[in-house]
Amino acid sequence: MTAEQILRLRKSFSLVKRQADVAAFYFYRQLFELDPTLRPLFQTDIELQALKLNDTLDEALDLLDRPIELAATLRELAEQHAEYGVKPGQYATVGTAMISMLEDILGRDFTLETRQAWVAFYQLVSGAMLMVAESRGTSRRLAAAR
Ligand code: HEM
Repeated sequence: MTAEQILRLRKSFSLVKRQADVAAFYFYRQLFELDPTLRPLFQTDIELQALKLNDTLDEALDLLDRPIELAATLRELAEQHAEYGVKPGQYATVGTAMISMLEDILGRDFTLETRQAWVAFYQLVSGAMLMVAESRGTSRRLAAAR
């Protein structure tokens, strides 16, 4: 991820934050349209959930300059997600819903470079979370085989 991409992400996310409610609405609408079976996983208030997601994205964007802290935050988040019952295969759907929401919210500001920066960011964040999720799965399988 380049310094220019990080700048692009921060700039475009500040535009998203100005319309955080609409962004959350688009995101969840798109997510449940892509995969309605995900709906029952979300048990707490969706608005509260959206606020937390917003804060985490904010924090992750902030931590892009501090990879060790970022890795620790994402490890914790991945552990929580495994407890919620999130499966590794569901990360791609969330990524697609996020890109589609950004497209709707940013419109003409969602340039090719900005899209590429968000795709790289989601790959980085979800890739780190998936590594934790998959290593949990492997340890469980090893324990069961013992
Ligand atoms: C980069 C990826 C992701 C980020 C940054 C993220 C962020 C968050 C945050 C901040 C929370 C709130 C945690 C809390 O209550 O303190 C949350 C909850 C949750 N996330 Fe994610 N998430 C990601 C990927 C996913 C994926 C792939 C799924 C799959 C469906 C998912 C499903 C959930 C569920 C089910 C909850 C709990 C909802 C509830 O308690 O009702 N998340 N997520």
